[in-house]
Amino acid sequence: MIKKAILPVAGLGTRFLPASKSIPKEMVTVVDRPAIEYVVKEAVAAGIEQIILVTHSSKASIENYFDRNFELEAALTAKNKFDLLQEITDILPTHVSVVSVRQPQPLGLGHAVLCAKDLVGDSAFAVLLPDVLVKNQQEENDLSRMIGRFQASQAVQIMVEAVPEHMVDQYGIVDVAQPPLEGQSSVMQGIVEKPAVGLAPSNLSVVGRYILPAKIMQLLEQTPKGAGNEIQLTDAIAMLQQTEAVEAYRMKGQTFDCGSKIGYLKAVLHYGADHPQLGDAFKALIKDLPL
Ligand code: G1P
Repeated sequence: MIKKAILPVAGLGTRFLPASKSIPKEMVTVVDRPAIEYVVKEAVAAGIEQIILVTHSSKASIENYFDRNFELEAALTAKNKFDLLQEITDILPTHVSVVSVRQPQPLGLGHAVLCAKDLVGDSAFAVLLPDVLVKNQQEENDLSRMIGRFQASQAVQIMVEAVPEHMVDQYGIVDVAQPPLEGQSSVMQGIVEKPAVGLAPSNLSVVGRYILPAKIMQLLEQTPKGAGNEIQLTDAIAMLQQTEAVEAYRMKGQTFDCGSKIGYLKAVLHYGADHPQLGDAFKALIKDLPL
């Protein structure tokens, strides 16, 4: 069973300056809650019970957000503000724990995942990159489907979606003989980090959701620096694929890249419009905009 998920949050978020100068980009709010809460909820909805934050000294507010805040809870109780109390105590179900480990140097995503080696031990685990929000309309989310597929086949799962050809150089890109249908997986023959436009093996990009075996940690220890002079998770997956079955899972939901300002604004529009309490008023507000 996949019960642990690694969320690398040590990045400085330079694409989100100036906001990220003193607020972790993961704590910037999408409607009424920090972006990272959506990612943690996505993991919990897929059955994850331990969230492993790979973090940095400047990001303590993320750990604080998922901790209890006794003083605030006592103050809300004393004032009979039970709805608000429930809002802050319901952030995480009680069976889910959040632990953290530091990434001492910014050596890349592969290195960040490797920092959690001792915390995952011998079990397979999920990796969720919190810059990307995945919004699912259907009851079972994409991550849960990937976990189901991994459990049925033991094949490593990499979530992908199609991107326009001119954007392939911003992502990991997979090579598949048979592109999978939405909601399904197919065997991956290769994966490359940020290929030049015109040289990519497909337009199926790595979204930032992975189901990986513990063995990837040994491979990460041997992975040399790659694209951007960083230790790339993509390069370790390419090595893994020489000995293990690796599959590309094509997502059904929609992605929002909250690491970019325009992706963030798009997320606010979509999550705002669908918000159970604020949605109708928010849609009316948008209609009134003098566009
Ligand atoms: C990382 C991964 C890349 C993936 C992307 C998704 O890149 O290395 O393979 O496609 O996330 O957002 P980054 O955006 O950190 O440069």
